[in-house]
Amino acid sequence: MRKNLALEQLNPYKGAPPLEQIRAHYGLDRVVKLASNECPEQPFPEVIQAIQAAAGGLNRYPDGGWRDLREALGEHWGVDPASVVLGNGSCDLLLALARATLMPGTEFVFPWPSFVIYPTMAEGALAVQVRVPLVDFKHDLRAMEAAVNDNTHLVIVCNPNNPTGTYLRAKEVRRFIEAMPADLTVALDEAYIEYVQTEDEDTTQWIYEFPNLVIFRTFSKVYGLAGLRVGYALADEPLVTALNKMRQPFNLNTLAQVAGVEALKHKERLQERTHRVWGERDRIERELESMGLQPVPSEANFIVFHADRLTVPPAEAAQALMERGVLIRSGYALNMPGYLRVTVGTEEENGLFLDTLRRFLPAPARAGDASEDEALKEDALTVKDVAQRLRGV
Ligand SMILES: Cc1ncc(COP(=O)(O)O)c(C=O)c1O
Repeated sequence: MRKNLALEQLNPYKGAPPLEQIRAHYGLDRVVKLASNECPEQPFPEVIQAIQAAAGGLNRYPDGGWRDLREALGEHWGVDPASVVLGNGSCDLLLALARATLMPGTEFVFPWPSFVIYPTMAEGALAVQVRVPLVDFKHDLRAMEAAVNDNTHLVIVCNPNNPTGTYLRAKEVRRFIEAMPADLTVALDEAYIEYVQTEDEDTTQWIYEFPNLVIFRTFSKVYGLAGLRVGYALADEPLVTALNKMRQPFNLNTLAQVAGVEALKHKERLQERTHRVWGERDRIERELESMGLQPVPSEANFIVFHADRLTVPPAEAAQALMERGVLIRSGYALNMPGYLRVTVGTEEENGLFLDTLRRFLPAPARAGDASEDEALKEDALTVKDVAQRLRGV
C-alpha cells in the first residue's frame, strides 16, 4: 500500500465496549458506566424537545456557518460570534488545530499524562512529541516553558487536566501564555472548566489579549450532550481562519446545533447540576481517603486514586470491578499505571461504585465482622482468578 507514513505510528482510539455487551458477557443485571467522564444526567428536557422538533429538517445539510449557535455562544461568553468555531466535539477541532500548526519534524509540547488525543495530534502530522511529565499530578509549567524552542509549533495546557483532575490557577496559566513566543500557538483545553469550584478569572476574554491563544470547550460533559458531539473553540484571527480552513464542511450536524442553542438557555439548571457533582465529588474523595486509596484532589467530574492497596493487582482492578458491573478506567489505559480513574456519577451509581470497591480492600480497613471479611476475601480471590483467566484469552 502506498501510504501515509503516519499510519505506522497511529493507533485507533479504543472506547469501552457497549454496556449491553458487558452486561450479557458477565451475566450482570446492570452495568454502571463511570469510565468516560460523561454526565450521568440526561440532556435538559427542553433540549430533547428541540432535537425532536428539528428532526423533520434532516433532509437538508446543516448550517455550515452555525450562525445561531455561534451567536448564542458569543452572547454567553461575551465574545464576538466571529471568534467562535464549532466542531464535531472539541476533538474535531483539536485535530484541525494539529493539521493547521504541525508538520513533519516540528515539535508539539504537552503535559503527560494528559488527554490521550494529544499524542494522536502529533502522530498524524509526523511531528515530534515533547511530553513534559506532571509534577505532583499537575502541569510543570516551568519545564514546559523550558521545552519550547524555535522548532515548537504547538503547546497545549489541559485545565483541569485529564486524567488527574488537577487545576492550575488562571494567573499561573496567564503567566505561562505571556512567556510564550507571540508566534507560537498556545491551546488551552478547558473541557472540564464548568466543574471547577475554585473562584477564578474567566479565561475567555484572553483571546483578544493573546492572538496566539485558542481555547477549547465542549457540550459533551456538563451539558450531557456527549452523544451528539458538540465542541467549540474560541480564538481571535488568524486562528479562527486556520481552524476553518482545516475542518470539513458541515462539521456540526443540525441536531447538535439546535441542542447547543437550547442548552445554553438553562443556566440555573446547569448550576444545580454542577453543585450535585461537587457534592458527590467531595463524598467520593472522602470515602476513598478513608479507604486509604489517596485520591488526587479533583476540580473535574472524575477522580484518580491509588489502586495498590486493593486485594487485586492494580493491573486487574478495573477488570475486577467491571465483572461486578462497575465500569471505571484503568490507569494502564491512561498512562498512569497503579491508579484508577472514576467518573462522578449519580448518588446511587457512586454508592454502587464505593460498595463494590470496598470488597477489594484488605480486611482491617473494612468495617464489618470477621466472618464477613473472610467471605469477602475469598470473593476477591475468585475475581482475581477470573481476571487472570480472561487475560489469557
Ligand atoms: C481534556 C479533554 N479535552 C477534550 C475532550 C473531548 O471532548 P469532545 O470531543 O467530546 O468535545 C475530552 C473528552 O474526554 C477531554 O477529556
